[in-house]
Amino acid sequence: MPPTGARTPSEPPQPTACRTLDTVLDRSVIGGYTALGYRVRRRMWSPSALPRLDGRVVVVTGANAGIGLAAAEGLARLGATVWVAARDPDRGERARTAIAERSGNPDVHLGLCDLSRLDSVRAFAAELTAATPRVDALVNNAGVLPSRRETTPDGIELALATNVVGPFLLTGLLVPLLERAAPSRVINVSSGGMYARRIRVDDLQSERDAFDGASVYARTKRAEVILTEMWAQRLAGTGVVVHSMHPGWVETAGIQASLPRFHRVMAPLLRTPEEGADTIVWLTAADEPLRSTGGFWHDRRERPTHLLPWTQETPQEREQLWARCVALSGLDLAASPPEPTDR
Ligand SMILES: NC(=O)c1ccc[n+]([C@@H]2O[C@H](COP(=O)([O-])OP(=O)(O)OC[C@H]3O[C@@H](n4cnc5c(N)ncnc54)[C@H](OP(=O)(O)O)[C@@H]3O)[C@@H](O)[C@H]2O)c1
Repeated sequence: MPPTGARTPSEPPQPTACRTLDTVLDRSVIGGYTALGYRVRRRMWSPSALPRLDGRVVVVTGANAGIGLAAAEGLARLGATVWVAARDPDRGERARTAIAERSGNPDVHLGLCDLSRLDSVRAFAAELTAATPRVDALVNNAGVLPSRRETTPDGIELALATNVVGPFLLTGLLVPLLERAAPSRVINVSSGGMYARRIRVDDLQSERDAFDGASVYARTKRAEVILTEMWAQRLAGTGVVVHSMHPGWVETAGIQASLPRFHRVMAPLLRTPEEGADTIVWLTAADEPLRSTGGFWHDRRERPTHLLPWTQETPQEREQLWARCVALSGLDLAASPPEPTDR
């Protein structure tokens, strides 16, 4: 099982009543995932400010809109050198300019990267490698929920390519830069929707059944959490920690377009993009996330990865998922990450 890491005694204790309320909100789903959950929990957090990130290099994918834009702006406000990874040059440049203006931090760069295309991911990783000797944090945020089955030019179903295979390849290619910056972090943005789904390694490409976008999306989000744990194991001892998180239910163009009915009903309760991005910024900047690896977080607290017994995957399925990601992405593991270690 993944190392969840030991907490140090310096972690500020949270009163039992607060932890209980937090857990009740979490299990109620609607209480925890909406703006209500965020606003209640915010009162429980330490009032001390997050550490400054001057001199640190962070990369945020899908940073031209929604949660990614809010996360990139939050990290720019902390002084980081921010790489906005976007697939469209105009949308990307608009976001880069807006982040620099609003944060007052001019050190914001645009890198073009279509996560659904392996050649584009490789080109972006090469651009970064030429431009900077280190990456202190990679935030794999870009994501899609397609309504019908489409395949990319690499022959990969679109949600699998964008949410899983592209980020897997980008992570692998950036390991040398992350190791150089150690202690450093990879943050994978998953979804609470993954709680309802089990991974299907026998049908990763979603070819067998009628295509149900929400289910396929949730399975890719489950895969992200499993791969987070597996990267954490592989990178144990390198100083690179790997965490996943879910942002709750957030008002973005993406949720409006992909889940219009859900959006109509839930609109008054949705979080702002800044509220959804809060845990990404915290995982990237705070000291506590460096004390463990492989965790799944929501609202600054580590959460279980399974709530339903039938969603649990087997060790063999985990290994098959990893092997399929290696095969689909063409990642040369010998050229990047070390072999897994026991911790
Ligand atoms: N909103 C929610 O309630 C919610 C809940 C749970 C999890 N999440 C997760 O949070 C993340 C951000 O979601 P969001 O709601 O902010 O979505 P969004 O508003 O649709 O933004 C998604 C971002 O990803 C980018 N993107 C999509 N496909 C891409 C590709 N092939 N290559 C590069 N970039 C690509 C988009 O770029 P374009 O502008 O070019 O399309 C956009 O910048 C996703 O991983 C999502 O699964 C969101």
